[in-house]
Amino acid sequence: MNLFDVYPLFSLTPVKALGSWIWDDKGDKYLDLYGGHAVISIGHSHPHYVQALTEQLGKMAFYSNSVQNPLQEQLAEKLGALSGYPDYQLFLCSSGAEANENALKVASFVTGRKKVIAFTKAFHGRTSGAVAATDNPKIVAPYNAGHEVVFLPFNDETALLEAMDESVAAVIIEGIQGVGGIQVPDDAFLRLLEQQCQKHGALLILDEVQSGHGRTGKFFAHQFAGIRPQLITMAKGMGNGFPVGGVLIHGDIKAWSGMLGTTFGGNHLACAASLAVLEVIEQEGLMENAAQQGTYCMEALKQLPLLQNVRGRGLMIGFDLPETHRHVRNNLLMQHRIFTGEAKPNAIRLLPSLAVSQEELDLFLVALKTELNT
Ligand SMILES: Cc1ncc(COP(=O)(O)O)c(C=O)c1O
Repeated sequence: MNLFDVYPLFSLTPVKALGSWIWDDKGDKYLDLYGGHAVISIGHSHPHYVQALTEQLGKMAFYSNSVQNPLQEQLAEKLGALSGYPDYQLFLCSSGAEANENALKVASFVTGRKKVIAFTKAFHGRTSGAVAATDNPKIVAPYNAGHEVVFLPFNDETALLEAMDESVAAVIIEGIQGVGGIQVPDDAFLRLLEQQCQKHGALLILDEVQSGHGRTGKFFAHQFAGIRPQLITMAKGMGNGFPVGGVLIHGDIKAWSGMLGTTFGGNHLACAASLAVLEVIEQEGLMENAAQQGTYCMEALKQLPLLQNVRGRGLMIGFDLPETHRHVRNNLLMQHRIFTGEAKPNAIRLLPSLAVSQEELDLFLVALKTELNT
């Protein structure tokens, strides 16, 4: 059987990884500043994470959501404390798209409405409602196009004020746009969103799937703006590679039996992985490291005259390359053995582990300077 050929692949086969490093099947070593798309939060194969998952696997990998699972309560407790949302409720699922799909459903259940406001360049995943709220017509099938979604220009206060009314169920926005090329929403814009949602009885959904779990130096990127959205979605960094996602739901929103559900969400292994991630973030001060190394890297990038629009927060960094240097990302990988991310048309995204060191970032900066001078 052939694989369904949807992914453009590098000719590379990683077989082992540790911290910020990956080894391929030929024994070559690569620096990972992409984290498998912002997923590797605490570093590859962190010993505490490996031990927690191994121990859990030896006890019990899975049972369904029809029985008591105290690991879910432990996770909710720890997540609430570390994120600053102890009074919220947690719904567990298995991916970012699923988290957004469930948040959109909750907003629609609560308001009895179906219109959603999203923003240009947004990416919220590929399930039905999540992809309808994604600003990329190429990945929206006719089947997904029936949702009532209005796209507004990002950071445009006037457009928002004109669009908001009593028909809006939810406004969904990323803490920092990732796939859209590391676009940071203005703090004032987020505050206006919160205020307008309150005024019109709509729910605000903060998609922190990529920007959450400490990546920006705060637990969630929207916390720079001081807002408290009713719904917050998360996934990528949550399990450090174990597929897990979640929705934080405001304490005033009442659940009813069967309102949401999933077979795999919150299973024993997913909880063990997510708990281990939070423990390492806390014990090793990884949010502080993300803030510190992010500032260091961004300041160094700003000194390089060929780079445009160096932007981001913490370890979620983007910059634009001039047209003459489109090949740089490929060369970084193939010649310098450094993984980075990209965004169209010509941006590089850095999404390393939150434990990345200054020495590792320096290796990248030296390689980048070499590429820019050739
Ligand atoms: C902001 C954001 N939301 C949602 C998703 C979808 O997550 P998943 O691929 O786990 O469904 C992504 C994935 O890139 C994302 O960046």
